[in-house]
Amino acid sequence: MTKIYRAKDFKDLSRKAANILSAQVILNGKSVLGLATGSSPIGVYEQLIEWYNKGDVDFSEVTTVNLDEYLGLSPINPQSYHYFMHLHFFGKINIKPENIYLPNGLESDSKRECARYEALIKHLGGIDMQLLGLGRNGHIGFNEPGAAFEADTHIVTLASSTIEANKRFFNSEDDVPKQAYTMGIRTIMQAKRIVVVVTGQEKAEIAEKAFFGPITPEIPASVLQLHNNVTLVGDEAALSFISPALCANYMQ
Ligand code: F6R
Repeated sequence: MTKIYRAKDFKDLSRKAANILSAQVILNGKSVLGLATGSSPIGVYEQLIEWYNKGDVDFSEVTTVNLDEYLGLSPINPQSYHYFMHLHFFGKINIKPENIYLPNGLESDSKRECARYEALIKHLGGIDMQLLGLGRNGHIGFNEPGAAFEADTHIVTLASSTIEANKRFFNSEDDVPKQAYTMGIRTIMQAKRIVVVVTGQEKAEIAEKAFFGPITPEIPASVLQLHNNVTLVGDEAALSFISPALCANYMQ
């Protein structure tokens, strides 16, 4: 059953989600965290860095596995998710470089890369806590509408709406890679705990559909209703389509 935390605004949302992640790391210093890129988790990372700087949370034994990476982008390409994660998080905490994992966007043998990533996650003992954002079309990771619920890590062709949404990070739409490696829905669903951060009015409708509508591959995030430990942290704007009464039932 999904727990829903209604935050006042982006800062409050980021602090609430960071609280959950830091509690995970404080309780188990060797946690395996599944991490996401995009705009939504940036505030979470900022908050965790602040607490790290205060000495309240230690990442020295933490391992991370990221959800996805664009195909063809090297880790030093400023648009790659490797770069994003180093810029916004890894470069500012004491995580060991050898404990950081993302799909290798430069590996052209997709079968090999997907098998490697799945084997890696299994070898790590699975993901203790997975942080997710929610795509405007309901995607999680790069599992676009129609993605098979039973898929493991695989290569995807991005939906045109995702290319459109992500072009803000590139010089032009043409520069957005058309393919990416992503953990599959099954990989994500195997995480022991899942925390979804959703911000802004533009996500309100899809957030309601994902968490209260029918469970369907057309809205990949709707599968999260079947997971037994999901926490949704949204700001008031993002949760505005979810009746406060429904939220109250789930509030802690
Ligand atoms: C990022 C990812 C995506 C984003 C989603 C929301 O690693 O896998 O699913 O979480 O596209 O992106 P933002 O937060 O930028 O709206």
